[in-house]
Amino acid sequence: MARSNTSAAKAILLAAHFAGNTDITSLRNLISQNRKPLRIEIVLRILLSHLPESLDPSKYVPLLQELAEGEIPATQDAEVDTSILDGVAEGDASRRVKKLHLLPVTWPNAQEGGPKDLLSRFLIHRSMRIDQYTGMIDLIPKLISPFVQYSPGLRTWMITTVLPLLRFSYEYHPNERAMTTIVAFEQMDDQAGLSLLLSGTGKPDSANESNEHTVGRDLRGLVGPWMYSDNRSKRRKLRTEPNLSIPETIAQEPNAADKQRCASWEEVFNWMIAQSRTSWKTLVQAIEQWDGPGDVDLGGYEDSAVLLDEDDQQYLEQRYARTALACAYLVPEASLEALSGINAILTRFIALLDLDKVSTLEAAGAILSPVANLNNVLSVKNAAFLKSGFLDDENVLTTPNETSLRLLHALLISAYIFTKEGTGLSIRKAAELALLQQELEQRKEFKRLISVHNNRGLKSDDRYWTRARHEILWLHHWGDGDARVNEGGRGVLGKIPKEEIEVTLLQTLLSNNRVTLAQSIYQNSPDKPLSQKALNDTLPGAAMEAYDNATNGNMTRGGVKRCYDILKAFSQSLDSFSASQIEELVKVTHEISAYRLVIKKEPFKPVVLRVHSDPISLIGMILDQNERAYTHVRDFMSMAKQMDKAGLIKKDQATYLERVISMCIDAALANDDYETAYSYVMTRLSNVAGPSRSNQVSPSRNNSGLKAEKPAMILDDWSWKAALQAGKYRRNNNTVKPTHIGTASGNIEIRHLQQRMDCLSLALRFAPSSALQEILNAYRRCEEELETKMREEEEEEAAWDEQGDDQLMPGVFVTDVPKRKLESASASGTAEEAPMSLFDLSRASMARASSGLAALNVLQGSKGTDAKERPEAQSSGDGGGDIGASRARKRDQLMNAATGTLAGGLGWVLGAPQPRGVD
Ligand SMILES: *[C@@H]1O[C@H](CO)[C@@H](O)[C@H](O)[C@H]1NC(C)=O
Ligand SMILES: *[C@@H]1O[C@H](CO)[C@@H](O)[C@H](O)[C@H]1NC(C)=O
Ligand SMILES: *[C@@H]1O[C@H](CO)[C@@H](O)[C@H](O)[C@H]1NC(C)=O
Ligand SMILES: *[C@@H]1O[C@H](CO)[C@@H](O)[C@H](O)[C@H]1NC(C)=O
Ligand SMILES: *[C@@H]1O[C@H](CO)[C@@H](O)[C@H](O)[C@H]1NC(C)=O
Ligand SMILES: *[C@@H]1O[C@H](CO)[C@@H](O)[C@H](O)[C@H]1NC(C)=O
Ligand SMILES: *[C@@H]1O[C@H](CO)[C@@H](O)[C@H](O)[C@H]1NC(C)=O
Repeated sequence: MARSNTSAAKAILLAAHFAGNTDITSLRNLISQNRKPLRIEIVLRILLSHLPESLDPSKYVPLLQELAEGEIPATQDAEVDTSILDGVAEGDASRRVKKLHLLPVTWPNAQEGGPKDLLSRFLIHRSMRIDQYTGMIDLIPKLISPFVQYSPGLRTWMITTVLPLLRFSYEYHPNERAMTTIVAFEQMDDQAGLSLLLSGTGKPDSANESNEHTVGRDLRGLVGPWMYSDNRSKRRKLRTEPNLSIPETIAQEPNAADKQRCASWEEVFNWMIAQSRTSWKTLVQAIEQWDGPGDVDLGGYEDSAVLLDEDDQQYLEQRYARTALACAYLVPEASLEALSGINAILTRFIALLDLDKVSTLEAAGAILSPVANLNNVLSVKNAAFLKSGFLDDENVLTTPNETSLRLLHALLISAYIFTKEGTGLSIRKAAELALLQQELEQRKEFKRLISVHNNRGLKSDDRYWTRARHEILWLHHWGDGDARVNEGGRGVLGKIPKEEIEVTLLQTLLSNNRVTLAQSIYQNSPDKPLSQKALNDTLPGAAMEAYDNATNGNMTRGGVKRCYDILKAFSQSLDSFSASQIEELVKVTHEISAYRLVIKKEPFKPVVLRVHSDPISLIGMILDQNERAYTHVRDFMSMAKQMDKAGLIKKDQATYLERVISMCIDAALANDDYETAYSYVMTRLSNVAGPSRSNQVSPSRNNSGLKAEKPAMILDDWSWKAALQAGKYRRNNNTVKPTHIGTASGNIEIRHLQQRMDCLSLALRFAPSSALQEILNAYRRCEEELETKMREEEEEEAAWDEQGDDQLMPGVFVTDVPKRKLESASASGTAEEAPMSLFDLSRASMARASSGLAALNVLQGSKGTDAKERPEAQSSGDGGGDIGASRARKRDQLMNAATGTLAGGLGWVLGAPQPRGVD
């Protein structure tokens, strides 16, 4: 067993044997005793070929270190067991050495520029075999680390190849374990390598829930090492693709070399751009957690001398900042969270560029300070930079300087104002609005914003609205409001005229019941945001909107109240005509609301009144639906007048008063309340009724104030019909009894007939010729009945007289008798005096007709002069006292009327000629 006994071949066989059995101690002794045959290269080849790859490197690293140093001191009592070679012949040994097939110390696909020294090559080859046969690449650092200080190439290889892959598979993303070998990884280009290394970045890590800081970690610990060393771009082929590779013009540019050197980093920047589109949270984390290309974690393998040089560092920082700005524009999501992410990006770069700090989004959104000078960045031509070329040097939006950051901040606050209201607006959309200044688009967004405010407005107070208005105005001019009122603003709503915005705000405030606030802003403040004209144009509409939305007509609540409040608050700003129209509308609506009114099965809503083509008909419905409502004729007449003043009544409905009274008369008759009907005919109707067939305007109506524009033809078809109805009414058992018969005509029947004849004679005055026959027929029937009744009464009285005074009852009748007698005498006297038969009338009319014009005057003057002459009390249904005089006058009227109307209407009966001027 002496060392001199061992031949070279046997030493190699033994070394391979020891290596195979992982007997490092024997191997070391063997080497130390046989330095010549077991020179370093042979030993390394034996280790490479026969030492099991799974053996912990710490077992053989000391040997490697000794080999590298060239000194393998002998150990005392170092017995090497050579027994396995006992009996092996030298020749045999030589043959067996050849069969060992020792591997060379280079590795397949060894890279250009890789380390050239023997040990380094061995270590790399050994690492690859460990990876290949065991996959336990975590063994590799133990093998390599002790030697990196001797070989820069080995250090580079360790950092750029082993470290990222090892961290990826074992430490950072154990669940995503890379299905790749070192060999394959080494051959990847920048892009493939990056996409492998970042394949788990930002994904939820099931092994570790708290992966909040993993994005920065990955960039620092995976990408940083992968990008290590100047030689990288020479080692790896560059991907060539537009936008991603170096621009063509690069060769001429001064920093072309920088770009060339740093080109690999562009892949990282492109990854960030892609993240901003698909996974903005990852992007924001990347920027928050990572300081850029200078921020690397090389796991302690680095040599402090080999870091980025100053120029590269500066250049890459600029690129990183530009990338971050580009990303801010690309985040598609319009949520508060995304916007605060973007704010975080902004904050970081503002710090990086040593600019004034920006506050949180909430604070900035509350302060809304004016946006400082944006130079020429805010221009339509720069909108192209929102589409492509985000990282181009010419892109002013992403050029990291004060201007671009200011713009981004303004956009961010704008987007925030929208988004916090639930109308998300992305930065990109905000940028389009600001740069393109397209009115239509801006209007769309403005509408969205106003509508959310509207939806929650009623629950909000003045502070809410003051703030909302402030924000919206800021969106218009970005804090540069007063300077350019007429030029439009610079903001995202800059193209919408300021006045239009203010008008919309005013309308919104009013429709949300902030009347006092609106008044203080738009009417009472010294810097009147809206002109008098704009106010006058806007307010009636706003008042009507409130009105139309009301469900109840009561002016003390709801929409009608709001309408009225608007009117009161803005009385200074409203044109007096509009103001009075609105006021009348509110008042009449309120009055209507006091009645029950159901239209098409729905309770009355104010808007129905405003849009009704025939508002007077609503009064008709009230009469139908409210018992004894007809007794309020005065109220209904006043309502109708208010409707007219409110502008609701059309010109061809000018006879509305006649109509209202007529409707009340009809309602009274329908309720058998003849006394009321009669009283309305004789007082109300005779005061207002006009001829149904006048083709001339009577002088009293012409050119008189508000009514100046009444049309020439006023057809009152209501009055005569109502009077005729009253004239045709016959008493029945349901007829409401007169309240005080005592002093009236003693005979109710006679009194009733007289009243009917009063009504008929009035009807005759206003009726068209086609109706005269009917009226006269009714009149004649009444007259006949009256004569009969009177005869009966006279007979009764005669009989009464014959009975003598002694049978008289004491008390009231005693005094009553003479009176009754007196009255009947006077009544019968009248009858004697004027037996007004139809033929009498006709004869009279013939006489008058010959003097034609006089008759016409009577007709035309009937409304003005007759009505005024007649005292109200005269026909109040209690006119018994002077019934004789009344009847006499009535006869005259009838006579007069007949001469005109009969001549035309009944002329044919008598063969009379048509009087001129009457048809
Ligand atoms: C880069 O490559 C050159 C040879 O091409 C080599 O001398 C140098 O050591 C390498 N540098 C690093 C850090 O690998
Ligand atoms: C999760 O990651 C954190 C930091 O990276 C680490 O401190 C923690 O131990 C990990 N937890 C688990 C369960 O892996
Ligand atoms: C920022 O860069 C843009 C584009 O290069 C330029 O127009 C602008 O004036 C710069 N702003 C500042 C404050 O330097
Ligand atoms: C109209 O009334 C409804 C509910 O009564 C309300 O939601 C709506 O905002 C009102 N609109 C206006 C313009 O006042
Ligand atoms: C106010 O507006 C009404 C129409 O809404 C118009 O008729 C009137 O002339 C305006 N008055 C003023 C003073 O502008
Ligand atoms: C209007 O509403 C008030 C209170 O709600 C009530 O007191 C009043 O009687 C109502 N008026 C009419 C006309 O309905
Ligand atoms: C009133 O009622 C009585 C009996 O109830 C009847 O005889 C008479 O005809 C009725 N009169 C009228 C006008 O209906």
